[in-house]
Parts: sequence; structure tokens; C-alpha cells
Amino acid sequence: MKEHFSKIGFVLAMAGSAVGLGNAWKFPTMVGQNGGSAFILLYLLLTILVAFMVFLAELSIGRLSRKDSVNAFYLLANNNKKAWSFAGFFMIGAILIVCFYSVVIGWIVYYIYKSFFTLPQNINESAALFSNLLQADIFSQIICFSIVFIFIFLIVNKGIKNGIEKMNVFMMPALFILLLLMLIYSFSFDGFLKACEFLFYPDFSKLNENSILNALGLSFFSMSIGVCAVLTYAASLPDKINVIKSTLSIILINVLIGIMMGLIIFTFVFEFGADSSSSGPGLIFVSLTNLFSKLGILGNILAFAFFVSLFFAGVTSAVSMIEPFCFYLINRFNIKRSLALFYIGIFVYIIGILCILSSAVKTNYNFNIFSYDLFSLLDFLTSNILMPLSAIIICIFVAFCINQEKLKNFFIPYMGHTFFLIWINFLRFICPIAIAIIAISNFI
Ligand code: PHE
Repeated sequence: MKEHFSKIGFVLAMAGSAVGLGNAWKFPTMVGQNGGSAFILLYLLLTILVAFMVFLAELSIGRLSRKDSVNAFYLLANNNKKAWSFAGFFMIGAILIVCFYSVVIGWIVYYIYKSFFTLPQNINESAALFSNLLQADIFSQIICFSIVFIFIFLIVNKGIKNGIEKMNVFMMPALFILLLLMLIYSFSFDGFLKACEFLFYPDFSKLNENSILNALGLSFFSMSIGVCAVLTYAASLPDKINVIKSTLSIILINVLIGIMMGLIIFTFVFEFGADSSSSGPGLIFVSLTNLFSKLGILGNILAFAFFVSLFFAGVTSAVSMIEPFCFYLINRFNIKRSLALFYIGIFVYIIGILCILSSAVKTNYNFNIFSYDLFSLLDFLTSNILMPLSAIIICIFVAFCINQEKLKNFFIPYMGHTFFLIWINFLRFICPIAIAIIAISNFI
């Protein structure tokens, strides 16, 4: 008998999957580089017009079949069942993501530890700390990665209700409260008003065609679309849940937490004068850590709270990346959850360690593949190729290849006839074409 989430458990678990490291550095950095709130408006528009539609499509495959992703495509396809079942293997994308994602959560664990000691006093020290961790301190990286690895696998081992749901029900509110406290604290700085102006005053002149691509890519990654995480959680949806309301709540939580993180980060950036367009991990691990140090002991407390909240955001996402493949192995080979996790664990651990080694200069292993280190290669492959491709396939599958009556019976009570028609036509025409343009233009 398949375990089901409770209503609130589902919303929190799905929001836990959505809210992740993407909100912490992709969102603020992209907002910073693409004209502040003009980009937020664009992101919201694309989230509602494209990501929301595809999310509902992926959700419907999970909920209508109540199966793992491979069996779900097989069961629901009207024709060519065998061929369609291969679409379920996009869940491998989630396993590839978790390999490097857990390495980054490992860095967060390292910074939680560092928050108990004197923080780097200037930006050079801060940059040196981070690059030393990445390029020379392989031992610390492996220890921290191993801690994260054991933690997330133990949670998934406890199953949907006792592991994943329980963790999310604790961590998501805790994450929100921590961020809220930090946000209230940042009100007291002048930088807060500048951060508000930066995030909420639209400067449309900074938008360009790349901003559209960035906004769509971000909204996909951020909503966990295209690697069967949504599908697999939806297979455990409780029976009487309003899927539209729940999905809108998930989007709202995701955007809200992104904005809260943005406000906190940019308040410190403006208050203490770091570069608002510095990107990626640099913004958090280098700039922010140095900025916290200017507040003395209070800075240590803030750094601790901030990295703990990132840890919560990260592990709730990582868990949702492992569950799809785990659930598939359990069903396909009729094995115990722990054994399925053992096999997945071997793969994730080896690739995770290789990611660490491949970007560390002080090893003989810093190999490159097509000029990417393994870390960036996996990121590129999953975000730019697998996720968009799978999203297009999901749209086509739901719009053309499954029983439309079943779909109507499930959705119309929640969305009504008119919205159903709009939704299905978006899936037929607008979403696949928009995603294809974006995915292809990534390569030109
Ligand atoms: N949404 C997560 C984030 O923003 C990443 C993620 C991708 C989670 C795919 C699950 C599946 O960090």
C-alpha cells in the first residue's frame, strides 16, 4: 500500500523541494544582474504562464497513475506504452543533480562550523577561505559532503510519511522563521531601503533577450520541474486535495522565500558595500560571510542562522531528488527501500567525490570533460538539456497521449472548464514551443 502525504505535508514537502539553493543564489544573483524587479516581474509572468502549467501536467501524471515515473508513463499512455515508459527515466536527472547539489550543501555545513569562529575580516580573506576550501581543503569537503550524504539518505530511508513529510513539516516553518527574524533585523540598516529599491523598482532597460531565457530556466529549476520529483511526490497526494490551490501556495512560498533571501542578502551587500552583481556562490560564501564579520559576535549568530536556513532549504530539495529513483527501484525489483538506497548511495557518493576532486586544483584528478569540470558539466547537462527536454515531453504526453476524460474528471472540479481549456492549449502549443526556443538558444 502506497503511503500518502497529509494535505499540509504535501504542500510543505513540495515547497521544500522547490525552495532550495536555487532561491539562495540563482534568484538573487539573476535579479541583481537583470534589472531588479523588472526581472522579478518577468520571472513571475513566466512562472505562471509556463512553469505553473507544466508543473500541473507533471503532477497529473503522478496523481492519476499513483505509480513511480516509469510505470506512470506506461500506465497512462494510450499507445506505444513501452516507448513512453522511457520518459520516466528523466528521474536520472534528479540523481545527477543531487551528486553536485550535496557537495554544495557540504560547503554550507562547513560554513555553519566556521560561524563558531572568527569570520574573515576582509573580502580578500573571505575569498581565500572559500577558494582554499574548494581547491585545497579536499578533506573538509569530503567530510562535510559525507555528513550531508548520510543525513539525506537516512531521511529518505524512513519513507514518505515518517521521513520526508516529518522533516519538511519541521524544516520549512523553521526556515521561514529564521529568514523572518533575519529580515526583521535587516530593517534596522540603511541598506534595507536600498535593497527594496533595487528589488522592487523596475528598470526595464536592463532586460534583454537573455533575461527571458534566464527567467524561464530559473523558474523551471526552482519549481523542480522535469526530473520526476513533482511526479513522484504527486503519486503520494492525498485524495481530496485542491491541486490548484496547493500549487499556487507552493509557487507563492517559493517566490516569497526567494524575495526574503534577496532582501536579506542585498541589505548587507548595500550596507557594507559589496558588489551587487557578483555572482553564484561568491555572493553568499564570499561577500556575505565577510559582511557578517563586520557585526562582531552578532555577525556570527547571523552567519549561523543564515547557513542553517540554507542547509534546511538544501536538504529538503535534495531528498526530493532521491525519492523518484528510489521509488522506481522498489517497485521494479521489489526490493526494500534500504537496499534501493544502498545502490543509489554508491553512485551518488562516488560521483559526489569525483565532483569534489574534479574542481580541486591540488589533486591530480582535476580533469575536464568538454572544457567543463565534472561539477559544471552535471549542472549544465541537467539544467540546460534534461530539464527542458523532459518538460517538452511532459507537455506533449499530457496534452495528446493520455485519456483526456480522466484528465478532465480530475482537474475540472478544481479549475473549471474554461481554465482547463486554456491549460490544455498552453500544453499543446505555447509551452513546448517556448521551452524549445529557450533550450535551443542556450546553445547559439
Ligand atoms: N528547486 C530546487 C532549488 O531551487 C532544485 C531542484 C531541482 C529540486 C530539481 C528538485 C528537483 O534549489
